[in-house]
Amino acid sequence: MIIAVDGSAASGKGTLAKRLAAHYDLAHLDTGALYRCLALHLITEGRTATNVTESEAAGAVGSIDLLMAGSAAIRTDAVAGMASVVAAMPAVRQNFVSLQRQFATQTPNRRGAVLDGRDIGSVILPDADFKFFIDADLEERARRRTKELQESGQSAMFRDVFEDMQDRDRRDRERSEAPLKAAEDALVIDTTRLDADSVFAVATSHIDGNTNPKRR
Ligand code: CDP
Repeated sequence: MIIAVDGSAASGKGTLAKRLAAHYDLAHLDTGALYRCLALHLITEGRTATNVTESEAAGAVGSIDLLMAGSAAIRTDAVAGMASVVAAMPAVRQNFVSLQRQFATQTPNRRGAVLDGRDIGSVILPDADFKFFIDADLEERARRRTKELQESGQSAMFRDVFEDMQDRDRRDRERSEAPLKAAEDALVIDTTRLDADSVFAVATSHIDGNTNPKRR
């Protein structure tokens, strides 16, 4: 079973993807972490959002350290901003395609995978068995992200997080390559007034109600 979970920043897509993976015993890939690892690598090399070129960023995809995917260093707002800049570059996105498709199709236990990101259901895995698109009001998402950053020990002000997220949303939705939007066959879930348990319940009842029992 392949599940695509797409959505906006801090919408709850990562939380849902992790819980679905644990529940159905599937492998999980947070594809945003790939773009964040690339962004961190470029920042460390002295690049900024205004001086990084597409060929430089695309060329650096092969040099990123995927071990950084689990590190706190990629979870800053500065890294997220740079990630959304390089993620708008077609050559960068192209260089991440095969890695994501391989992950989905070559999972160790062969049960399948959950991938979360922005373009999983629309571009990377258009034939996914289930597609979800997770969104919430910008204010609520900025509140969640501010809390998350503060809880991880970073100093974060709601206003700054709100403005950074608004800029990032705009870049993600307006870019010409793989813009953030729900795939036509995705189930859209607005999490503004839903907690993680309720979102999980909506998603699992959709999957269980549409799955051949032998494939679960
Ligand atoms: O955690 P959050 O939702 O804030 O961000 P993320 O999923 O870690 O993604 C960081 C940035 O990478 C996003 O703002 C997108 O610009 C980009 N991204 C993308 O373009 N495509 C993906 N499949 C995943 C992330």
